[in-house]
Amino acid sequence: MSLPIAELVPPHIRAFEAYVPSRPDPELCRTYGVQRLHRLNNNENPLGPPPAARRVIEGFPPPGAAVYPSGDCHYLRAALAERFGKDPERFLVGNGSCEVIASVIKAFCDKGDNIVTADKTFAVYEWVAEFSGFHARLIPLKDYAFDAQGMLAAMDARTKILFVCNPNNPTGKWWRRDEMERFLAGVDGRAIVVLDEAYREYVDDEDFPDGMELMERHKNVVVFRTFSKMYALAGLRVGYVCGQKEVVDYIRRTHIVYSVNTLGQPAAAEALTDDAAHIRATREMVARAKALLLPAFDEMGLEHVSGAGNFVMVRTPASDSLMYRHLMRRGIMVRTMTGFRFPNWIRVSLVQEPVMREFLSAFRDVVDLVRGGPA
Ligand SMILES: Cc1ncc(COP(=O)(O)O)c(C=O)c1O
Repeated sequence: MSLPIAELVPPHIRAFEAYVPSRPDPELCRTYGVQRLHRLNNNENPLGPPPAARRVIEGFPPPGAAVYPSGDCHYLRAALAERFGKDPERFLVGNGSCEVIASVIKAFCDKGDNIVTADKTFAVYEWVAEFSGFHARLIPLKDYAFDAQGMLAAMDARTKILFVCNPNNPTGKWWRRDEMERFLAGVDGRAIVVLDEAYREYVDDEDFPDGMELMERHKNVVVFRTFSKMYALAGLRVGYVCGQKEVVDYIRRTHIVYSVNTLGQPAAAEALTDDAAHIRATREMVARAKALLLPAFDEMGLEHVSGAGNFVMVRTPASDSLMYRHLMRRGIMVRTMTGFRFPNWIRVSLVQEPVMREFLSAFRDVVDLVRGGPA
């Protein structure tokens, strides 16, 4: 007699709802009857990777695919070490920074422990905690930013990790130096503080508290960075964690070796060698896109939120899923925000001007349509 499968499954897995990724573009094009889609849903950088990384990708020898990658990203860690002036042993690279989120939680959380983060932020911290059997304490945002006092108040003796998304996805808000210092003083080394700086390269402000520097004074701080956003290597899946050597040594114990592929490693390493012009061009593209979109939202009388990062949020006059479907029929894919606990908002990636103009034209049409005006 065999047991029903569900009885083999722990309650926290039974209760967990799996994330459903979007279908591939050709399938979506067929469903929505369009020839092509502008992907404004994932905060990708449409300029593509910097030139040196491009050359690595173009020159990749197919027989190289037969060989396992460096199991610990030897040369990529050396490149990161050089860039940030730190020991290579202080870097741990993953299959995107999503993978290192899981490694950090596995390394520090035990039965009965909890993590603290915001209610409206990158959801993977919460998801990994929950499907691993740990409670995620979700502190409401304050004025669209992480609430430092609220997070400190939520800490208890079983809090192992606080996740701070700085700048926050999806609101773009970020803590300034003094706010970060006050928060770290409040934590007082009692738990690991993860600063997820996935959008750090989009911030051009002296007052941004750089986690790479903070970790030298606060041993419990670890920083996540990714090559998926500014460096436009999302498809190759490379992200990393950096911290004190002792902290990273523990995280490494829980981390799958060989998870970063043979093409991603050198592409990421090379991306660091000539990124200045690329970062400048990307920031300019984002600034131009924002200058186009925000006044248009104002003119339409729509509330919007943005800060640092290559995205803006706008509150829609109809349900976000209805807006999504109407926009998809016009070849525009945005992110619905109900899943981020912002019902009836959408998030739009900031890209080149012609695409932004296409988005705006489709968006105006749809807003008119749902408001009952001219379609
Ligand atoms: C705040 C934040 N952290 C991490 C990630 C994951 O990035 P990766 O592609 O490196 O897994 C994302 C991706 O959207 C993000 O927005």
